[in-house]
Amino acid sequence: MILANIAGSTPEECAEVAEKLDSTQVHMIELNISCPNVKQGGAAFGTSCAMAEQVVSAVRKATSKPLVVKLSPNVTSITEIAKAVESAGADAVSLINTLLGMRIDIHSRRPVLRNNVGGLSGAAIFPVAVRMVWQTANAVKIPVIGMGGVNSGEDAIELMMAGASAVQVGMAVFTDPYAPVRIVREINDFLDEKQIPAVRDVIGTVQPW
Ligand SMILES: Cc1cc2nc3c(=O)[nH]c(=O)nc-3n(C[C@H](O)[C@H](O)[C@H](O)COP(=O)(O)O)c2cc1C
Repeated sequence: MILANIAGSTPEECAEVAEKLDSTQVHMIELNISCPNVKQGGAAFGTSCAMAEQVVSAVRKATSKPLVVKLSPNVTSITEIAKAVESAGADAVSLINTLLGMRIDIHSRRPVLRNNVGGLSGAAIFPVAVRMVWQTANAVKIPVIGMGGVNSGEDAIELMMAGASAVQVGMAVFTDPYAPVRIVREINDFLDEKQIPAVRDVIGTVQPW
């Protein structure tokens, strides 16, 4: 299964990339409207319902492939954005992209990143991912793909209990390229231990207080 992650500076540019991929063997398109590291497009699309709807509608018209829209956590209401992209034709949403962060070198008084601010990923953002996946899964009818700090089978199960139908692994692969293989093994170990027949049986099964 090949999922192509795309982005652009304008809705037209995103649509053009999607159209080019339409005639390839790519199975799904994941439209990134959430990158905090670029000045145009990226998070600007993902932090406004109107902009998100506009870019998703343009890409929707340009491709017949299943369209996943990747959401930004740097918003006041993740559910409003999710509902906007659902109504614009997204087949699924994926979340979360990186949280906007900043570090300063206190000796030079310079921001560590040349862009001054940048995307924070990894274990630190996992609780935010769980919360946003849970809120989003309760707000939309389309499937939710969860990510953000996943580094174990137990993390993946937790995101699925929050409502994710599938899970992506990002940062963990930088330190361990085999992390996804280990995580799948750990998911299966959990299912065996709890005598759960299939992984789909854990999706959305959290019992909120
Ligand atoms: C170095 C780096 C590059 C990234 N590039 C992209 C990208 O091109 N498109 C995208 O949708 N997300 C991108 N992301 C975001 C990740 O896919 C993911 O949403 C985020 O890092 C949270 O998951 P993680 O903690 O498992 O990495 C990038 C993240 C990092 C750290």
